[in-house]
Amino acid sequence: MARIIPIALEKDKVEAIAAATEVLMRQRPVAIPTETVYGLAADATHPAAITSIYETKGRPRFNPLICHMADLAMAERYALFDPISRQLAAAFWPGPLTIVLPLRENSGIHPLATAGLDTLGIRVPVGFTAELIRSFGRPLAAPSANSSGRISPTTAQHVEADLGGKIDVIVDGGPCPVGVESTIVKVESGEIRLLRPGGIDAEAIEAVTGKRVVRPKASGTAAIEAPGMLASHYAPDASVRLHATTVAEGEALIAFGPGDISGASTARAVFNLSPRGDLREAASNLFDFLKKADASGATGIAVQSIPEEGLGEAINDRLMRAAAPRGTEG
Ligand code: TXA
Ligand code: MG
Repeated sequence: MARIIPIALEKDKVEAIAAATEVLMRQRPVAIPTETVYGLAADATHPAAITSIYETKGRPRFNPLICHMADLAMAERYALFDPISRQLAAAFWPGPLTIVLPLRENSGIHPLATAGLDTLGIRVPVGFTAELIRSFGRPLAAPSANSSGRISPTTAQHVEADLGGKIDVIVDGGPCPVGVESTIVKVESGEIRLLRPGGIDAEAIEAVTGKRVVRPKASGTAAIEAPGMLASHYAPDASVRLHATTVAEGEALIAFGPGDISGASTARAVFNLSPRGDLREAASNLFDFLKKADASGATGIAVQSIPEEGLGEAINDRLMRAAAPRGTEG
């Protein structure tokens, strides 16, 4: 079973960095807290280390991994920045933004991490993980610390329940404050393309750059742009029904906002993402509530509409994947 190491106190943090580094040196993956979700991290320069991530998650290998760096200076050693990407990095790092950039020649990032692409998705996370990378000295490839296709973990306990039997160490940083994965963008011909909505909303990117963020034209396009963006992802066992205005017998309800909907009083369980209608609060609760609704024994999960603005775009993206037909997950 995995050892869970808290980092609330400074002395715990020192111990967690030592234990995590020891695991990384053995080319094994370690579960780490980030501001978005828990990551399953390993040395991005080492083939055996990266293979151990894919094996632990049961993840298809055509799906490239995000590489986490300690800071912009470190990132510049591995990838080539255009002026807009550098502006985004300066504004949002450390933070929940991943920027896809051309890989430098002989960068040392192993092709298994990029699935052979000549681009690299980079992000600088907040807090413990950046400290760990600084101490380890090499970038960490880290997808979310869940079995492929399942709901991403936002607590150490989520990681333990899913992967606890397969990994050695889980660093426990408490609940992830953002709660959805990073936003992924790629700058091409001066255009900012949104490959995945996430913890930084498009409006914030537009405010910083003065440029419009371009969405993929159809839902199929994202699958080609970001190979991991397959339709069914974040799949609970129960079926998920979106834009619910009533709750059917046997269903659990995931609510949003102050209103009440018919059938709620007889729902199997009720979880309100944000009774005051706050999208940030809703994002931070999303994965935990999906897991809890699933564990309630409900036959289905009815989800009320979430506004498609700000972080709502990322929330709706994850909900659509949770509701998609199964068997197409990545
Ligand atoms: O918040 C996050 O981003 C979390 C935490 C752990 O940092 N990580 C995460 O990683 O969500 P993962 O592996 O679950 O998602 C990575 C996504 C995939 O959809 C993949 O296709 C895309 O990033 N990606 C990675 N490298 C890419 C590249 N070079 N070009 C296009 N898409 C890329
Ligand atoms: Mg994931």
